[in-house]
Amino acid sequence: MRVAVTGGSGKLGRAVVRDLVEHGHDVVNLDRAPSSEPAGAFVRVDLSDYGQVLGAFLGVDDRFDRLDAVVHLAAVPAPGLVPNTAAFENNILATHHVFAAARAAGIRTVVWASSETVLGLPFGPDNPPPCIPVDEEYHPRPNSSYSLAKTLEEEMAAQFCRWQPELTATGLRFSNVMEPADYAEFGSFEADPGRRIWNLWGYIDARDGAQAVRLALSRSGPGVEVCIIAAADTVMTRPSAELAAQAFPGVPPTRALRGRETLLSIDKARRILGFEPAHSWRDEG
Ligand SMILES: NC(=O)c1ccc[n+]([C@@H]2O[C@H](COP(=O)([O-])OP(=O)(O)OC[C@H]3O[C@@H](n4cnc5c(N)ncnc54)[C@H](O)[C@@H]3O)[C@@H](O)[C@H]2O)c1
Repeated sequence: MRVAVTGGSGKLGRAVVRDLVEHGHDVVNLDRAPSSEPAGAFVRVDLSDYGQVLGAFLGVDDRFDRLDAVVHLAAVPAPGLVPNTAAFENNILATHHVFAAARAAGIRTVVWASSETVLGLPFGPDNPPPCIPVDEEYHPRPNSSYSLAKTLEEEMAAQFCRWQPELTATGLRFSNVMEPADYAEFGSFEADPGRRIWNLWGYIDARDGAQAVRLALSRSGPGVEVCIIAAADTVMTRPSAELAAQAFPGVPPTRALRGRETLLSIDKARRILGFEPAHSWRDEG
């Protein structure tokens, strides 16, 4: 496939570009900043400008003349980095323009980054999760402008699928993205479960995030689906059942919890994408 990756210069985007190139895809990174990753082509695009997005999707001289699919990762990637409304504006506009330009350019496959935040983060004693493990079955509960934009982007994807019945759109609700260097800190989390309670002690290795993107690109059947994408385990050493019982005694698990399994359910991603995380922080030196 010839695939455009928006935000391909970012933390997750670099892993996605590398993975797609390694698996034989022709990749162009559309970002407003260049990448440190040598794989793939780069075209500078400001995604808040619809004309630039449409122009890029229709073809760029000396680079490519058509696209088969778009992976949309570009965003301000968390609350707190810029003023609330600046994150909302940048992210919602970029996502709108990506879906609208994909429709105009006849692109039928879009994979985009949603976020674990729509599950109701930050969790804590005063804001327990509605169920354990959390899953995709309940309505989003955004608690920031960033997460509100991610929630509305999921709704936007559903409406674009209604307008364009042949569109396959897959939203990936990524957990906190980690690169191998980030694992050095993980051993220190055990002493204080409160440090990572906010996302139920979840994470996703960027390489496994890239695997999920690649699998989502080949999902068949039109329409929208959203999946939580997390590592198979938590950042902690004690068993997940113990963590959940101590932190959220009022939320009994919906099923028996095995070992250190993630409390961000990846059952749906396993079922509909064939996703299986290959990386755990425990295996990194
Ligand atoms: N990092 C995480 O823990 C995490 C967790 C859940 C979801 N996500 C989502 O995953 C995606 C990727 O996150 P990341 O950690 O790689 O972020 P990042 O900040 O490392 O990369 C984002 C990239 O998007 C580009 N970008 C942003 N706005 C743009 C615009 N208007 N036009 C052109 N380029 C623009 C930036 O230049 C940057 O290279 C984001 O959508 C983010 O919301 C990230």
